[in-house]
Amino acid sequence: MSIHQAGRRVTTQVIRDMKASQEKIAMLTAYDYTMARLLDAAGTDILLVGDSVGNVFSGFETTLPVTVEQMIYHAQAVVRGTERALVIVDMPFLSYQVNPEEALKNAGKIMKESGAGAVKLEGGAEMVPAIRKITDAGVPVMGHLGLTPQSIHQFGTYKVRAREELEAVRLVQDAKKLEEAGCFAIVLEKIPAQVAEKVTASVSVPTIGIGAGAGCDGQVLVSYDMLGLFNEFRPRFVRRYAELGDTVLDAVKTYVTDVRQKNFPSKEESY
Ligand code: KIV
Repeated sequence: MSIHQAGRRVTTQVIRDMKASQEKIAMLTAYDYTMARLLDAAGTDILLVGDSVGNVFSGFETTLPVTVEQMIYHAQAVVRGTERALVIVDMPFLSYQVNPEEALKNAGKIMKESGAGAVKLEGGAEMVPAIRKITDAGVPVMGHLGLTPQSIHQFGTYKVRAREELEAVRLVQDAKKLEEAGCFAIVLEKIPAQVAEKVTASVSVPTIGIGAGAGCDGQVLVSYDMLGLFNEFRPRFVRRYAELGDTVLDAVKTYVTDVRQKNFPSKEESY
């Protein structure tokens, strides 16, 4: 039986309790009202308004151009489409890295204007002062370690992180520091399953994996990837649960043919 009470919105406390009761957490990204309604109705525990919106919605090569205003716009739509799931909003590049005061100002703006339940930010020990500042003001923070796409120009590649012993050890230490700083959960992106298991056993807050194996407390995928809508990268960790891209193509081709051949609209579809 789920520890979450039916009819109530999932909270950060529910997410913490799910780790304690070994109930796996299902998280997906969402960027708009219609999709949020579907993902929420299907029982997803967390909807992340990810800055991956920059890739799959806006068509940017990286997440770096995304702004606080854009995140708020998408988050407002997702919150309106959600009754049950906890909505978390990614803090975009340079909205929290400059100093803790600015991080709090931007986190507060996102929370006030979107109606979401938490924010997420990328980075390890270096982010502790910003996380403390934000959580001290009562805003829940989800951390994000491993492959952190906002640092892509520093990494230079989207390869698996923490394969080397030294980086793996640092990642476990970073996770502990994020927990101490007040993060209620931590995303682990594209790291070896064994390292993710070690992190999961080392912290009392839930870990949510993406390309981090089955040992995490929950899983997250980019919804456009798992639904087969986005084809530009096909990382091996993405399981495609549908091929909606093909469905859309077939439907639109049929519509175009119908219009051209005067098969649409029919008498029944006219007034
Ligand atoms: O922006 C995003 O979609 C994310 C997920 C990959 C966790 O951060």
